[in-house]
Amino acid sequence: MFVVGSGARHLGDEMKRFSGDILEVEIMKFPDGEKYVRVLGSADEATVVQSTFKPQDEHLIELLLLGDALRERGAKRLRAVVPYLAYSRQDRVTKEGESISVRAVMKTIGLYYDELYVFDLHNPETLKFFPGRAVNVSPARAIAGYFKEKLGDGIVLAPDEGARERAKAVAERLGLEFSHFEKERISPTEVRMRPVDVNVTGKNVLIVDDIISTGGTMVKAATLLKEMGAGKVFVVATHGVFAEGAIERVSKAVDELAVTNTIPTPVSRISVVPDILSL
Ligand code: R5P
Repeated sequence: MFVVGSGARHLGDEMKRFSGDILEVEIMKFPDGEKYVRVLGSADEATVVQSTFKPQDEHLIELLLLGDALRERGAKRLRAVVPYLAYSRQDRVTKEGESISVRAVMKTIGLYYDELYVFDLHNPETLKFFPGRAVNVSPARAIAGYFKEKLGDGIVLAPDEGARERAKAVAERLGLEFSHFEKERISPTEVRMRPVDVNVTGKNVLIVDDIISTGGTMVKAATLLKEMGAGKVFVVATHGVFAEGAIERVSKAVDELAVTNTIPTPVSRISVVPDILSL
């Protein structure tokens, strides 16, 4: 049985089309801004789908309230499917006194849920903070399907070495070459980016990342590829956490920008619903 939170309403219709097993819920806000949830039914086992994009804190609290409400109605086993997990980028202390926010969030979700499924977690090592079973789901199949025809005999690139596994996962599904950009320091103040060991001249290229925020990373990489004589340049990320103006900035620099629908945006063209339903 699925329960769809307000952070996953944009996925609800597609989920309903393929799965009739959806438990209705009432979700409201009190006049003072606090959330109210009520599950209209009960289930021994349930999967709550709730993405935690902006307003992140509200979506997170709702996930906890839904867990609490389902336990109250007797649920024995609960799974949280969180397509986009807020706070996942704060995964270490860089200045004394900081929180490891992703740890705080995962531990709290673990108070109510036995299992946690997150899409393309920024740092998969942080799954260890969840007290139960935690799974990082790759959207590579959906991304590969969307770009298969457009990319043709192209190349898949990651914007940095850390994202190489993402590019590899997509490329392997398409049977294409993959690589990553490397940063080369050419002076104390200047850093040059270049793709490692691949010739992009005349080739269509797909750049794959987990998150696009300001769009700076993608614009830089795409501009470079164009300068190097690449054919069409497509960019894709799992999570479109777009800062003001980012969609326009990236769109201008590339042939197509697409993200998955872990977060609803005007360019969320790739659906993760089939992956959610197959978990
Ligand atoms: C960084 O570690 C992430 O994987 C993304 O590359 C980053 O969040 C992209 O940020 P922006 O769009 O602001 O360049």
